Amino acid sequence: MGLLKIARMGHPVLLKKCDEVPDPGAPEIRRLVADMIETMEDAPGVGLAAPQVYQPLRIFVFRVPGGREDPEDPPLGNTVMINPTVELIGDERALAWEGCLSIPDLRAAVPRATRIRYTGVDCDGNLTEREVTGFHARIVQHEFDHLNGILYPMRMTDFRFFGFTDELDRAKS
Ligand code: NI
Repeated sequence: MGLLKIARMGHPVLLKKCDEVPDPGAPEIRRLVADMIETMEDAPGVGLAAPQVYQPLRIFVFRVPGGREDPEDPPLGNTVMINPTVELIGDERALAWEGCLSIPDLRAAVPRATRIRYTGVDCDGNLTEREVTGFHARIVQHEFDHLNGILYPMRMTDFRFFGFTDELDRAKS
């Protein structure tokens, strides 16, 4: 167990299309997933994808923090997604702020589908299949993008809403 080094934007591993994981229960995959969860919690972050820790594999971990009012978008504890699929539902898109552990100190408003269906397995082969909305849907789209070499600036449509977290917080108050 241990904290992993996080790759920052500019490292080519973040632009790779990641490989399927042939055996999600393999010891080295279990170790990687445990270390990714520890690294995400330590950061702290709400999601972390394997390429962000220099492993070009189709794995991400995430959690949905509480504090939102939407009953359709409740909190969720640490979740492991191996070989996930994501399907966007409908044409509705929303802009909301995102950050990324590979792009420290910055935030941007990024358009995302408001509703998605996704699947994935954990290290024991348990299948998760969910239809979700709101912040949950946003996190999963952000993390899934990492597995295809896509970082959030590549999804942006309005670069006025891109800035350093501390400046943005100051401007708000
Ligand atoms: Ni990210």
